[in-house]
Amino acid sequence: MQINKYIYSINYDNNERELSKLESRYLFNAEEKNKLLFSDIKVAPSCSAFLKNRLDILAASNNYETLITDIKNKKIQIEGFKVEYLVFKGDTIGYTDRLEKLREIGYSIEGIHDYYQPKTTFALSYYEDVWYFGVLIKNNLDWHKHKQKPYSFSNSISVNIAKSLINIATKGSKEIKLLDACCGVGTILLEACFAGNTIEGCEINRKICKSAQANISHFNYTAKIYHSDIKDICKRYEAAIIDLPYNLFTSATDSDIVHIIQSTAKITDRLVIVSTTDITNLINNIGFRILDTCSVSKKGKGNFARKIWVCEKN
Ligand SMILES: C[S@@+](CC[C@H](N)C(=O)[O-])C[C@H]1O[C@@H](n2cnc3c(N)ncnc32)[C@H](O)[C@@H]1O
Repeated sequence: MQINKYIYSINYDNNERELSKLESRYLFNAEEKNKLLFSDIKVAPSCSAFLKNRLDILAASNNYETLITDIKNKKIQIEGFKVEYLVFKGDTIGYTDRLEKLREIGYSIEGIHDYYQPKTTFALSYYEDVWYFGVLIKNNLDWHKHKQKPYSFSNSISVNIAKSLINIATKGSKEIKLLDACCGVGTILLEACFAGNTIEGCEINRKICKSAQANISHFNYTAKIYHSDIKDICKRYEAAIIDLPYNLFTSATDSDIVHIIQSTAKITDRLVIVSTTDITNLINNIGFRILDTCSVSKKGKGNFARKIWVCEKN
């Protein structure tokens, strides 16, 4: 039986389904099935809006009794633990049976339970004829605090999109030096700082730039933000994200869009672009190729969709 190290539980609303799948392709080189993703790649769930939790597998077996013996043999000693049951698709085990199994696992671990503030949460689950037991790492949702940033834009991208853009641009690496070429009030910068990435921002509008700086300071993060036209940035970055101007406050002509994309393409070989229009020709004209794309609409506003383009230099 080939067992991966981790099981990720994925969740998304229908309007963000494509985005979640795009993110998974860059984080895990794989897509979820039945909202589960089995992988040997370790990712902190809180870096994504779509990863509910990660189960770090300690034991797995087709046979429940064998699983229990395995757990007992591990002689786990721990204070302040809890055991939860994760119900995966196709699991028909009844509620009473689940509770009984959780109790049995609880007795197989040495230490004191703590149901309310556990230091370690273990989980049991059953999927496609295999029982899994492991340590459960939940998305801590601490990043929700960014929704209350002091300055925001009426039509900024959502925090969910911002988190995905970083994962797609960096492919999960914390070593990559990132640029947000048109950073606005810093929605993307905040998520990059939260995830432990190194990022810089650029913003042409002085007032908006100050708002981004205030947002970053508000959460005690550090990110250099240039008050500049992107054409005047000479430093190179391993990847850049561009959330192109599109709304009333940041209206831009076609030539502004060309100017932003061309200027950013000069300082990086990898681009992740958010646009509301088809920019295929533009990307081809700057000598980049499109690796992947997806559409993401606003919840309840199916007629307004953004497109995300993942591109690399030819
Ligand atoms: C769609 S908004 C970005 C919103 C941002 N993602 C956020 O969540 O706040 C695009 C931003 O690009 C800025 N911008 C437009 N032209 C620019 C240029 N040539 N160089 C740098 N920034 C530019 C606009 O002032 C605007 O704030």
